[in-house]
Amino acid sequence: MRAGVLTGGGDSPGINAALRSIVRFGNKQGVDVIGFTEGWRGPMEGLVWPLSQADVSGILHVGGTILRSSRTNPFRIPGGPEKVVETLANHDIDFLVAIGGDDTLGVAHRLSAHGVKAIGIPQTIDNDIGMTDYSLGFSSALDVITDALDRLHTTAASHHRILIVEVMGRDAGWLSLMGGIAGGADVILIPEQRFNIDSVFHEIGKRADLEKRFSIVIVAEGAQPESKAGQVIKEAEVDAFGHARLGGVGQYVANQLSERMQMPVRVTNLAYLQRGGSPSPFDRILATRFGAASIEFALAGRFDVMTAIHGTEIVPVPLRDALAEPRPVDEGLLYLVDLFE
Ligand code: F6P
Repeated sequence: MRAGVLTGGGDSPGINAALRSIVRFGNKQGVDVIGFTEGWRGPMEGLVWPLSQADVSGILHVGGTILRSSRTNPFRIPGGPEKVVETLANHDIDFLVAIGGDDTLGVAHRLSAHGVKAIGIPQTIDNDIGMTDYSLGFSSALDVITDALDRLHTTAASHHRILIVEVMGRDAGWLSLMGGIAGGADVILIPEQRFNIDSVFHEIGKRADLEKRFSIVIVAEGAQPESKAGQVIKEAEVDAFGHARLGGVGQYVANQLSERMQMPVRVTNLAYLQRGGSPSPFDRILATRFGAASIEFALAGRFDVMTAIHGTEIVPVPLRDALAEPRPVDEGLLYLVDLFE
């Protein structure tokens, strides 16, 4: 049997660990693995890399993706899906493992209607894919954010300042909420709840009344102020999946607060630092389990599914259901923080 594998969308730590697992576990089961480079551009343009054991040796702890990535959407290119099908046939691919977020996995699901036997592995630091408790990369990004908040605390505590920290999270506030809890942020803003700048101001004021010298506000890039229509966008031009580039909500909050606060306000945008670097132990283990499960599911004839973790168990879930809508933050955690509507 022969498997194809590709990695698409924004990268995250743990992808290489999954590739290693797919090749190692696959080869043991008699499955050869052909990598396609640069996301869906690989099977569109026939960019192949037959993956040997040696190719995946020494990459468990390495962030990024050796297959590289892109945001290519075959369904936006005339004849795109047919080209993918043709390439897979040319290389005798029996099934395809797609590692990515909702866009990459959405293409895998749509290709099922074209006869492609696809299995998805959820990978996004945003952790917003449905029907799985965790996506690859979230845990590693959370480590970075927690470390950053720890560092920001020590400098904030030395000054009378308000520090605004912008983190990723287009549709869901997992990184902001969990990072904010882990790092002890004083105000947490997420895309799921529009925020009111007066409430932020009020919350920081309460701390000042308690003679706290500083405050830390963590805000997801997709969080929306009540007073503004839509998200704060850095570049209006959209990618092949229709997404504008977000960014700047941290500065927006800072500008609003600066006008009213006596204290200086500073902004730190963690941006791509969150996606880079080595995977956490949790992500390495999850990636290894997801990779092996993708081969197991294929050998059992389960296609158009995604590897998912429910509690401690790895299970297949239909791609259609997993991608139905972005997974919002767990409401059960909201009582832990002050959130603003
Ligand atoms: O992978 C998802 C994500 O991290 C989003 O939170 C963010 O909006 C996006 O990637 C930005 O990625 P890029 O700039 O690589 O398109």
